Amino acid sequence: MTAPPDWLDLDRRHVWHPYTQMATAPPPIPIVRAEGAYLHTADGRAILDAVSSWWVNVHGHNHPRLTRALARQAEALSQVIFAGFTHEPAARLAAELAARAPGRLPWVFYSDDGSTAVEVALKMAWQLWANRGETQRDLFVAFDDAYHGDTFGAMAASGVAAFHSAFAPLLFAVRRAATPFSLSRGSASLPLAEILEREGDRVAAVIVEPMLQGAGGMIVHSPDFLREVRAETARRGIPMIADEVLTGFGRTGRLFACEHGPVEPDLLCVSKALTGGYLPLSATLATNEIYSAFLSEDRGKTLFHGHSYTGNALACAVALESLAVLEEEGGLARVAALERLFAERLARLAGHPRVKETRGIGVMAAVELAAQGDGGYFDLQGPALAAGALDRGVLLRPLGNVLYTLPPYVIADAEAHRIVDVIEALLAA
Ligand SMILES: Cc1ncc(COP(=O)(O)O)c(C=O)c1O
Repeated sequence: MTAPPDWLDLDRRHVWHPYTQMATAPPPIPIVRAEGAYLHTADGRAILDAVSSWWVNVHGHNHPRLTRALARQAEALSQVIFAGFTHEPAARLAAELAARAPGRLPWVFYSDDGSTAVEVALKMAWQLWANRGETQRDLFVAFDDAYHGDTFGAMAASGVAAFHSAFAPLLFAVRRAATPFSLSRGSASLPLAEILEREGDRVAAVIVEPMLQGAGGMIVHSPDFLREVRAETARRGIPMIADEVLTGFGRTGRLFACEHGPVEPDLLCVSKALTGGYLPLSATLATNEIYSAFLSEDRGKTLFHGHSYTGNALACAVALESLAVLEEEGGLARVAALERLFAERLARLAGHPRVKETRGIGVMAAVELAAQGDGGYFDLQGPALAAGALDRGVLLRPLGNVLYTLPPYVIADAEAHRIVDVIEALLAA
């Protein structure tokens, strides 16, 4: 066995890893290279990346076109302050996103990751009303099992207590609406229509993950539910924020999950696969109506938001190339083929004694196991399942008792079968 790299000890002594209980977690696995769907470890193993490295990678790691686009851009311009200055990749990317977005969303505001894209959307929705002088709008509505990120606004909107309960006293008021799924699992939350009936004139915006709630447990919703959310908000003139941080760029089989409705949101958040999994970048897209509410001689009506790296040129250039690769290399057709393959394989697992439910959409295939312990994110099975998958050369990162895959679109059929084989082996173990 190869000796671990010398820098691994520096990691052990200095690096605080995300979503990691540093007292008990196994040491991190040193990765030295990645290619296609595989991560290569320092000791020469190849691990199949069945979760797209936290749902970001779509075309495979180290895609030659993306790598070239990055190098080309780095030679010209890597970064410039984005207030008062601009550059070609940001302008072109904004136009491409606006052209493909579900509905009319011509205005693109850049930030750095999914959470900040959500923060920006929440702030836009909030200040929209303030700028219009409707200051009684002091509530957001989000759904059971929602996950919108880890910054404070995004945490407030999220409904997965396991992640954010330590901060509960600091989070602003959000009404939690039921989904058909949460109702089927005994939620006491009210349906959206009822909340809006009671308090609609206080609501600044409703935020929803279209079709697929990811971190909440890979919960798949129907287009009917999405259409209902749109209809209820539209009826009352309340902005609907579509959080497509996870679902954007083909994950659910359409370029954007809103297309399943189809529905047209007022604000759209995208990130993760936006750069094909290369660089942190996100965007919040807005309608002309929302944008116009910020136009004024009064500088107080400005959206005072921005980050040091807003509109980073490297990230925008790679995102442009990633969109081109997605369209020119048949990404959506590949997602459709994988969806069929996973559906067929999951159907065979439906009667398994350890399986409570199987769920799938696009490249996401999930198996919910009967809970052990309290179930949910802290279900006792999660760490053992993850370790068992790694022993078999596949990176899975169960959400508690929900074992799922969300691979890059470039995996071959044989690799997709291998992932489900591993899931089956874990169920048998
Ligand atoms: C739907 C959704 N919104 C927001 C986020 C937050 O994104 P990030 O982790 O890039 O901040 C995530 C992350 O998983 C997500 O799935």
